[in-house]
Amino acid sequence: MSNVFSTTPLFADQAQRIVAAGHDLLVPDEEARMPRREILAGIVDAEGLLCLLGDRIDEEVLRAGRSLRIVANIAVGYENVDVGAARQLGITVTNTPDVLTEATADMTFALLLAAARRIPEADASVRAGRFPAWRLDQPLLGLDVHGKTLGILGMGRIGSAVARRGRLGFGMRVLYHSRTRREELEREIGAELVSFERLLEESDFLCVHVPGTDATRHLIDADALARMKPSAVLVNAARGPVVDEEALADALGAGTIAGAGLDVFEREPEVHPKLLALSERVVLAPHLGSATRDTRHAMVRLAVDNVLAVLAGQNPITPVN
Ligand code: DGY
Repeated sequence: MSNVFSTTPLFADQAQRIVAAGHDLLVPDEEARMPRREILAGIVDAEGLLCLLGDRIDEEVLRAGRSLRIVANIAVGYENVDVGAARQLGITVTNTPDVLTEATADMTFALLLAAARRIPEADASVRAGRFPAWRLDQPLLGLDVHGKTLGILGMGRIGSAVARRGRLGFGMRVLYHSRTRREELEREIGAELVSFERLLEESDFLCVHVPGTDATRHLIDADALARMKPSAVLVNAARGPVVDEEALADALGAGTIAGAGLDVFEREPEVHPKLLALSERVVLAPHLGSATRDTRHAMVRLAVDNVLAVLAGQNPITPVN
């Protein structure tokens, strides 16, 4: 029997699996970001930890968990966990890849379409009683999506799922820039690997799908934005710091690019005031990429699978270290 500590309440059936396996489960009553002192207190006797992207699991926390064997992050990203320190301390770290790929790709495409067709502005207009007569130069004219060029920055699992939607669903030409060439996908949907510069210059819709690391910080900066088409839309449902938010707000304000769909921000939950001030063709969402009932359930299930496997002396299913 082991102690499992979760920084978040779990779905009842998944909590039950932990208890049914004979473990003691410590979970908070409320779904709110857990204060650090509570994490430091809860980890002391834990052998398994379930945590969220917003929980900073650094060396201090890992060392405080004197019996800790596994950190199961309920997210595909794991920049909140000091993986190097965990490795040194012999603690397994796992994430939740694959199960959230399609939901996050759906959200990316939802933002792309919403920015292109100005859905939030249209909704606000109707609710405010503004239903303009049908006319050719409609004030809410948008941008065509079908047949346009979709640029994918980072052709990993989620980038590939977005690329498939673009090609197969919307007849788009797909360009990508990535560390790894994806020949199978090139054959499947005719995607073309291009330089970063070509991706910026030729994309009508540029979707960011690289992880948040020091190397990707501000990859989309003022210079990159200046290379994009004035009719282009930038979509980021990956990590906020990849885009220089102030430079993006300035580019949108100046008409350097036409629009943006953002699900992630540099300093979540803060959003740059200049972005908040922009209402046309800018769609903002509060980090909802994986936020569907089924997907969140699948993420917790996979995290629990990992905890149960490691505590039973088996290999983790989705280790990152
Ligand atoms: C992840 O899994 O990394 C997401 O950003 C959380 O929704």
